[in-house]
Amino acid sequence: MWPQQESDTRIMNSKLLFICLGNICRSPSAENIMNLLIRKHGLEGKIVCDSAGTGGWHVGNPPDARMSAAALKKLGMELEGSARQFHPSDFEAFDLILAMDHENYANILRLAPKGQYDHKVKLMCSYCRTYPDRDVPDPYYGGADGFNYVIDLLMDACGGLLEELQA
Ligand code: 4NP
Repeated sequence: MWPQQESDTRIMNSKLLFICLGNICRSPSAENIMNLLIRKHGLEGKIVCDSAGTGGWHVGNPPDARMSAAALKKLGMELEGSARQFHPSDFEAFDLILAMDHENYANILRLAPKGQYDHKVKLMCSYCRTYPDRDVPDPYYGGADGFNYVIDLLMDACGGLLEELQA
């Protein structure tokens, strides 16, 4: 049926890039959670995920141990990945660029020549279905509760994002 084909084609083309500041807490969590949902829905290879930071301080580092502990506790999931910095070539390489907060959003858009890629850059929380947050809060300087909250919030946002991609 044509509508089904149309939907499948859209999913086939989805390359997602999750963005935060350091690429060791929020965006690798979003990437790993999205991959979890992709596996759960049998969409491996149809939606491809990556993540990056607007800053370069943690390049090459694995996800923050406190973030990994929260993912393990809340979802039984090991966080995989190695931090990298966003590069302007990512605007072409990805279909959708998902910023964890308004600051990341503004910093990414500043790198886009003449608003050329504005349509690709979205706020992660715009996909939340349950949580009212507008930003995924930076947990880096806080305690375990903040890291646990990031996992819950991203589960909500990733679920909404997957629904949107399948719509
Ligand atoms: P992220 O968290 O942006 O979610 O990866 C942070 C990681 C590192 C720093 C701040 C936030 N930092 O200041 O080094």
